[in-house]
Amino acid sequence: MLRVGLIGCGYIAQKHISTIAKVKNLKLISLSDLDTKRMDEMEKFHQQESLQSNSLSKFKDYEEMLGDSSIDVVIIAVISSLHARMVKEALQAGKHVVVEKPLALSIKDAEEIVKLADVHNKRVLVCHQMRYRPLISKVKELIDNGKLGAPYLGVASLRLNRSIDYYKSASWRGKWSTDGGMLINQGIHLVDLLIWFLGDINSVYGDLGHYLPVKETEDTAAAVFTFKNQAKGIIEANTVTQPNNLGFGLSLFCEHGTISIEGAGLNQVVRCHVSGHPEMEEILKKLSSDHEDRFYMYQNFVESVLDDEIELVADAREAKRALEAIFGIYKSHQMTTPVYFPITQFSTGDMKKRGSDG
Ligand SMILES: NC(=O)c1ccc[n+]([C@@H]2O[C@H](COP(=O)([O-])OP(=O)(O)OC[C@H]3O[C@@H](n4cnc5c(N)ncnc54)[C@H](O)[C@@H]3O)[C@@H](O)[C@H]2O)c1
Repeated sequence: MLRVGLIGCGYIAQKHISTIAKVKNLKLISLSDLDTKRMDEMEKFHQQESLQSNSLSKFKDYEEMLGDSSIDVVIIAVISSLHARMVKEALQAGKHVVVEKPLALSIKDAEEIVKLADVHNKRVLVCHQMRYRPLISKVKELIDNGKLGAPYLGVASLRLNRSIDYYKSASWRGKWSTDGGMLINQGIHLVDLLIWFLGDINSVYGDLGHYLPVKETEDTAAAVFTFKNQAKGIIEANTVTQPNNLGFGLSLFCEHGTISIEGAGLNQVVRCHVSGHPEMEEILKKLSSDHEDRFYMYQNFVESVLDDEIELVADAREAKRALEAIFGIYKSHQMTTPVYFPITQFSTGDMKKRGSDG
């Protein structure tokens, strides 16, 4: 049984707590937040979800929690600018880590985390949970086993609405130094899937737009990637869709097939053609009703902690690639020219320093 401490008792904490209650070999024993009331609320929520009445240990100071040797796994679900520091400290304290996306807000921090995880031989799961959605992992399998043939073009769309109230409700949101941009917060799941499907990036040309004065970061983004395998990738993303969320889109155009998925939950298969495999459309449509992403993600994490041979699908190395892809777009916007990979240095703070308002 792995004993878990959760740092950060805000909005996303509930999803972690309800998932942990269902996963074998995981037990929540501890909470940390600066706000005692939030810890009390989450303790109650945990008792409801786990159907257990035992109390949890609670720490206002997360460093005290890290010093508790009975904790094996630390979940980091605080504001994004604290992720990197807390992941590093947790690894140094000998814990396995689950960290919300984004892993970090700079390449330097992401690199240091990858190295530290190796040195301490600990797992770092980054919550790119869409990789674990059965519909999405089936598409990845079709690419990896060659059924779709060479990928030619991938298109990822994000059309969401984030209101002024959303930014006002938590002061860290919409700031380069604490949140990162819209692509880092909302867009990262789709960017991650695009590069998971299409591979290593050769170059990107990206441009951003900024309209809402309540925030510092971009509201719209458009980018064209060229991958090492010659495939092209397009991202179009915005959080100013009126009057409310329209949803997501992900399409792949390949040598032997086309797959296009849309919808508010990215779960409507609008086209599935795989040459020689007419059964695939029905298979994907059946998988589309399974939304237990976080459950499968935690299952993979636990298995990978308990068995060295099991690969962790969304580890720090993979999460660093998604960050690099987005930093490529940001850098290209600033330089108004394509950017070639690898990108060795960048942080969201650079967007502010250089006076870029998107
Ligand atoms: N994977 C996803 O789909 C997904 C969805 C939503 C949010 N997130 C991520 O989850 C993270 C948290 O987002 P949220 O919406 O829950 O934020 P939130 O503002 O609702 O909650 C953050 C919590 O962290 C606490 N906190 C801040 N500093 C702390 C410290 N030093 N020690 C302990 N607690 C501290 C705050 O008091 C607050 O309760 C963000 O990084 C966000 O990007 C991921």
